[in-house]
Amino acid sequence: MNKRESILQALSELQQEDLNPKGGNVWAYVYDSGLPEAEKVAKEAHNMFMNHNGLDFTVFPSLLRLENNIVAEIAELFSDDPASIAGTFTSGGTESIILAVKAARDYASEHNPTITTPEIILPTTAHAAFHKAAHYLGINTVIIPVNNTTFKVDSNEMEKAITPNTIMLIGSSVNYSHGVSDPIPELSLLAEKYGIWLHVDACIGGFLLAYYKKLGHPVIDFDFNLPGVSSLSVDLHKYAFTPKGASVILYRDKQLRKYQYYTCTNWSGYPVVNTTIQSTKAGGPLAACWATLKYIGDDGYKKLAETIWQAKQEITQYFMMLDDLYILGEPEASLLAIGSDTIDIFQLADEMKKSGWYIQVQPGDSITQPSIHLTITPVNRIDDFFQGLNKGINQVKSHPRESLKNDVISLLKDNDVPSEMLPTLLHAAGVKADGSLPSEMASINELLHLLPHEVTSEAFLYITNQLFTPTKSFTKGVE
Ligand SMILES: Cc1ncc(COP(=O)(O)O)c(C=O)c1O
Repeated sequence: MNKRESILQALSELQQEDLNPKGGNVWAYVYDSGLPEAEKVAKEAHNMFMNHNGLDFTVFPSLLRLENNIVAEIAELFSDDPASIAGTFTSGGTESIILAVKAARDYASEHNPTITTPEIILPTTAHAAFHKAAHYLGINTVIIPVNNTTFKVDSNEMEKAITPNTIMLIGSSVNYSHGVSDPIPELSLLAEKYGIWLHVDACIGGFLLAYYKKLGHPVIDFDFNLPGVSSLSVDLHKYAFTPKGASVILYRDKQLRKYQYYTCTNWSGYPVVNTTIQSTKAGGPLAACWATLKYIGDDGYKKLAETIWQAKQEITQYFMMLDDLYILGEPEASLLAIGSDTIDIFQLADEMKKSGWYIQVQPGDSITQPSIHLTITPVNRIDDFFQGLNKGINQVKSHPRESLKNDVISLLKDNDVPSEMLPTLLHAAGVKADGSLPSEMASINELLHLLPHEVTSEAFLYITNQLFTPTKSFTKGVE
């Protein structure tokens, strides 16, 4: 075997440890259009641009043209006046969100210099990326609980939380955990009334909702046609089925987008003009995204959206017939949260994994009930999945696992776990000393549900710090 072959073989062997992201068995994280030709053209486009550097768009003007074209096409989905919309191509939803929060912060500091401790107001269902943005950018978060039946925020509660320090309101269309939209038209009115920036997180739902609308399916108003919306994030590496590393952050106009940019001419090297967080930026994802958008095209996206719409109807009917599992809220796009009052859904996820299906656990906490998250894509083999689920439910009912609940409750002091007890608990849940996780995750997910989030954050820091340990012993045949 030559060097090239042995390297590729080693990589392929490594992948055997993973779930196959293709073929519809993984109901989260991956978005497979089921169109191999679209993937092929994306790979070719990626390879053509993998050495191009978006750091300097004067040296690689092709990247500037590709980006401007993508933003123009996406803006058309979210505004009746797309020519006035400005935007930027980014590496993903989190980067789009961090940039929007930075823009709102810098806008506020110029227009409202009296604000020294900026705050953003967000529902509990807003994506973790907003917490991360606030953490990175030195901004306080004000978190508003959502209704525990609809999983939508009440705009009156958002209004009550507004203070002179509020720089941004956030709503999702749709949120990740329950797949429902916040009342964006009402949030838009609030944004106008108080003159506050409103960001709509349409990272996961936006593209699909725009196509549902084109197809005539009912969709709430959530875009720039509402006058209070200042910015909107939409990921293309989700329901536009482009390779990963593709999102767009849109602004009502260039005047708002300006606050997202960063420039530095105050050092000894080349002038830095960064439109995004990255400086050196691979051209591959941008070219692959452009190629996918062109290849699938408007008609292709309509077909994919209709397939997902139909699948959602079918899955909804199925859960209505089940005794043990039910859908939480009324999902609007393609994401479902599934709850149970009768069976252990942590164990169900493990049982499904044993038979080759990945369903994602949302552990919840003392307020939010645990649920299973399902991301519907065009390739999910729904009948097979239902069969797998029925088998899993029977297995959980006939062989229930032992819960850690009583152990945890006996350890809790004032709703907290003494820090010295954490390693013992993690060990009881199956975490090994080197941080590696057990194949069955039910006990860990149960701990996540039972313990306060400060404690679980600490546990994750510990586990992750252990897992990322440099290692020389890799795989046979590759030096
Ligand atoms: C609503 C929402 N916002 C933001 C994100 C973050 O996107 P990314 O994982 O691309 O950073 C996600 C990811 O699923 C999401 O669902």
